[in-house]
Amino acid sequence: MAIHPPQSRVWWKEPIAKAELVWIGVAFLWGLIMFFMMIYWHIYGQQNLSTQVGRIDPAVFEQRTNDFAEKFKVREEGDTGIPVVKPPAGGDAYMLARTYEWWPVLELEKGKSYKLHISSLDLQHGFSLQPINMNIQVHPGLEHVVTITPTEAGIYGVVCNEYCGLGHHVMTGRIYVVDSGQGG
Ligand code: CUA
Repeated sequence: MAIHPPQSRVWWKEPIAKAELVWIGVAFLWGLIMFFMMIYWHIYGQQNLSTQVGRIDPAVFEQRTNDFAEKFKVREEGDTGIPVVKPPAGGDAYMLARTYEWWPVLELEKGKSYKLHISSLDLQHGFSLQPINMNIQVHPGLEHVVTITPTEAGIYGVVCNEYCGLGHHVMTGRIYVVDSGQGG
């Protein structure tokens, strides 16, 4: 404890105790293991996405998302009135983050691929797709483009997993995945 000054003024020239050397070795090895785990999980973990990221003006992203929603809106959510937007299979889908919502709700077809564009209009948010646990850090000014192919029909939730303010815990979104020929 450093309550009192060290008795020996040149305390940093003392030989390192054996136990401390062991701890330094363990910490160094653990650091190496964690480093290579990043590469391992990227390949085998099925959770770290290979996204394309580019700079974008938040106002431009908002405009594109609004245009997208207007063009492909199929209905509104009964409880919230948020538009449900169904892009053509193989096409682009947009979802924006802002305090405190993911907008709009998407409806995708099982087995079809989409280019999902995600960005934020204001603060840093965390896109977390549940229950499959796909996570993306979302920053204003940066646009992620993720190629996704839903494999299971169902209702997926999007929660914000990056603290963004008083409404963080209510910042949720939704993605419907329907079998081809149904829904719409
Ligand atoms: Cu958005 Cu937390």
